[in-house]
Amino acid sequence: MYKSFYNLKRNPFEITPDPSFLFPTRRHNEALAALYYGVRRHKGFVVLTGEVGTGKTLLLRCLLQLFRQNDDVAYAYIFNSRLSPVEFLQYIAADLGLPASGKNKGELLLDLGGFVISRARKKLTTVLVVDEAHHLSADILEEIRLLTNLETAHEKLLQILLVGQPELDEKLDSVGLRQLKQRIALRSHLEPLDPNETKGYIERRLQLATANGQSQTLFPVETVAGIYHHSRGFPRLINTICENALITAYARQMRSVTPDIIDEIAEDFRLNVVHHAPVEKAKDQDVEDTDVRRAAKTLLDMYAYLQKPAAPESELRTPLAARVSKHEPYI
Ligand SMILES: Nc1ncnc2c1ncn2[C@@H]1O[C@H](COP(=O)(O)OP(=O)(O)OP(=O)(O)O)[C@@H](O)[C@H]1O
Ligand SMILES: [Mg+2]
Repeated sequence: MYKSFYNLKRNPFEITPDPSFLFPTRRHNEALAALYYGVRRHKGFVVLTGEVGTGKTLLLRCLLQLFRQNDDVAYAYIFNSRLSPVEFLQYIAADLGLPASGKNKGELLLDLGGFVISRARKKLTTVLVVDEAHHLSADILEEIRLLTNLETAHEKLLQILLVGQPELDEKLDSVGLRQLKQRIALRSHLEPLDPNETKGYIERRLQLATANGQSQTLFPVETVAGIYHHSRGFPRLINTICENALITAYARQMRSVTPDIIDEIAEDFRLNVVHHAPVEKAKDQDVEDTDVRRAAKTLLDMYAYLQKPAAPESELRTPLAARVSKHEPYI
């Protein structure tokens, strides 16, 4: 709608992760290099984490593009982590071109193992890529641990890349997954962009989308400062703000986006609402404290009741539970 007005050949701020838009910040570069190097050097098990919308899936798509240019790499790419263990193995097998339907877990593991080993003999690389890995259940993480056992004395035969939000780190830190954690050969973490990177990111996207490939100042310096302020450098949020800013500026037939448009959008998207996680926690804590206080009071009341000198006979015949229930619930 605004494309011809701003001389754009495509939408510069699409939300879908498109490798052709990659803006290689230092962190994105390092993370991509770690994933690629980990696979090419048969390091075995590599983990990439990052907050929501920092570019993890985009990096994976870049990586898969690289793999497709290498004849010696075959990969299975899983982004739906809410599968049962058998479905998970079936999905991997099918993605690698193996017959999978109707097979049980044992058969699937045998087939996968045979496939990976025969490829390794021919010096070919096989990769399992799991996006959204923070959703993986303990059962599936255990399957992955078993798959990491496919190795010779010198190298891992199946390369496994787990990519997900920071909860993935917490999962891998848990006691039950110590063995898996110890097998991680390389780890990287993506952070939001800094103010300078945010500026470069916006310019790069605009340049790639502009019809003649020239850069234009649709977003002046003060506007970019506002975008950084409201997005805190999270690329997905930057895209949302910029896309909506262009729509608004176009509706007003403005040649560039002013900082107040960014403020309006931030307001509409409620980006100024600060989430105080610790306060939420404090609330939970309060509930817990209230319950504990209530239980303690019940006990004290009970104790005081039992200490009372000889209760009247009628009251003694009432079962203790009924007497206690006169008080606050017993948690
Ligand atoms: N370095 C970058 N260069 C260009 N675009 C980027 C970059 N990093 C992120 N983006 C863009 O930001 C948006 C969000 O990226 P992406 O979907 O990869 O995030 P994510 O980390 O996978 O998020 P989630 O945790 O929600 O899955 C996409 O539009 C993506 O293209
Ligand atoms: Mg993603």
